[in-house]
This record gives sequence, C-alpha cells and structure tokens, in this order.
Amino acid sequence: MTLLDGKKTSEAIQQEIAQEVEAIKSKGGKVPHLAAVLVGNDGGSVTYVNNKVMACERIGFGSTLIRYEDSITEEELLNKIKELNEDELVDGFIVQLPLPKHINTEKVLEAIDPKKDVDGFHPTNVGRMVAGLTAYLPATPAGILQLLERYEIETDGKHCVVVGRSNIVGSPMSILMAKAAYPGNATVTLCHRNTKDLGYHTRQADIIITAVGRPGLITPDMVKDGAVVIDVGTTRVPDDNRKSGYRLRGDVDFDAVAPKCSYITPVPGGVGPLTIAMLMQNTLKAAKKEVY
Ligand code: GUN
Repeated sequence: MTLLDGKKTSEAIQQEIAQEVEAIKSKGGKVPHLAAVLVGNDGGSVTYVNNKVMACERIGFGSTLIRYEDSITEEELLNKIKELNEDELVDGFIVQLPLPKHINTEKVLEAIDPKKDVDGFHPTNVGRMVAGLTAYLPATPAGILQLLERYEIETDGKHCVVVGRSNIVGSPMSILMAKAAYPGNATVTLCHRNTKDLGYHTRQADIIITAVGRPGLITPDMVKDGAVVIDVGTTRVPDDNRKSGYRLRGDVDFDAVAPKCSYITPVPGGVGPLTIAMLMQNTLKAAKKEVY
C-alpha cells in the first residue's frame, strides 16, 4: 500500500509556481494577485481562507482578504463582487462557501466575472469544462487529477466510482474522470444519497473517490483488493486530546481500509493541501491570461 502524500505534492506544485513568479518578477511582469471574500466566522472557512492567503505570501503572490459579518446583505456582497470584477490589480478572486442562508449562493457565484473565477464555480466555467474548452477547473477535483498523474496511477479504462454529487467536488470529478485526457478515460459511476446499495457499486471500483462528509462511510467490505482510494471527506470530530478540541476525519475507515488498497490518501494530509496548490495555479493562469 502506498500513501498518497498530498502535502508533499502540494509543496512541489507550489514551489514550481513560486519559481514562475520569480521569473515573472524578474521580467517586470504582472505579479499574480488573489482576493478572497469571507463572510462570517465559521471555523473551517476561517482556517481555509487564512491558509489560502498564507500560501499567496509564501509563493510571492499579492493577496487581499475581505471579511464581512454574517449580517452583510446580498446587495452589499454583490457590490463588492462588481468592484473586484473591475479591479485591475486583482487577477482572480474567490467567495468562500458556504454563505449565510439569507444570501443566494447561485446569484453570488454568477456575479463573478468568469475570467476572474479562479474557483471554477461560475456556470460558464462549469460549462466550458464539460465542453472540453479551456476553463478554470475547480481546485479539489483538479488536485486529485494532479495526485493521480504525479503518482502515475493508471486511469485509462478503469472503473472509477465517485461518491457524492456536490457542485464543488463530486459532480465535476465524475465529469473530469470520464473525459479523454490523462488522467481520465475512466468508466465512471456517480453514487449519492439515493443510491440503493453503495457497497455494491464501490466493490466494483478500481478507483474510489469519496466526497460526502460522513466519517467511516467507506468500510473494508466495500473496497476491492488493490483499489485506489481517494478520501475528500474532512469532518471535524470532537477530540479532547487536542488543543483545538477536534480532529479531522475522512469518509473512509482508514485503519481498516488501508491494508486492502494499492494507494490511499490520508486525512489530513491527502487531498486537502492540493486544493490550495490548484487555486494558486488557477490564479497564475489568470495573471498569464491562459484560460481567457
Ligand atoms: N468551501 C469548500 N471548498 C471551497 C472551495 O474550494 N472554494 C470556496 N470558495 N469555498 C469552499
């Protein structure tokens, strides 16, 4: 069994990007700049956004963090997005999700200029991805593709079972794995909460990618010997032995499943760190105008 080291892979990608930024700077080119909008104080979201801003600093990007209270109105948020769309310093920006219930997430995402939508959540980028055109790919699925590619895991003709159909991970992942690219060219099954017998499907998988947020969902009886298991789940569970009071758990019962796998991602340290690296890569592409 080989552990897929997302932390190491993420560091390698970020180092490659940092070198490109150095080259851009030495030629007097535009230094990539990412802005992040964070609404409210959700612990997970605050940590994620802070990590994104710190990554910018580490690799030499400019960054702007814009924070609002939960009480911000939809109109105020839309006005900020309009401002960021027009700000020439900002190459790309993200609005951290989830947003408070009184704000219409679809409306907010649609207000972002697709050319600056480095999360790849705008319907234009989703549609371009499906059509096989250049697009900003959502960071987590793109990170998983990088992991498969850098560990030279064969996907061509394999059966990939994706568990979870979110707009952020499961749905785009299922599309990307089915496409005729490397890594890709897989036969894909997309399972979700209405799937009748999840284990029936996962047992047939050469590659399982799970993004549900239910700790321990994937047990050893659901995994074929030699399967590749990619765990996107990151649920905070209480842990009195930690200073933070919690630890992260994936969807996979790791200790029991790992011995059956050819490759598996740990949680934390698997897919999570790659999400940041791919957001940085999208921001670099935005600055270099590689997508639009
Ligand atoms: N919430 C969970 N994942 C993400 C992400 O990749 N981007 C944004 N903006 N919000 C998220």
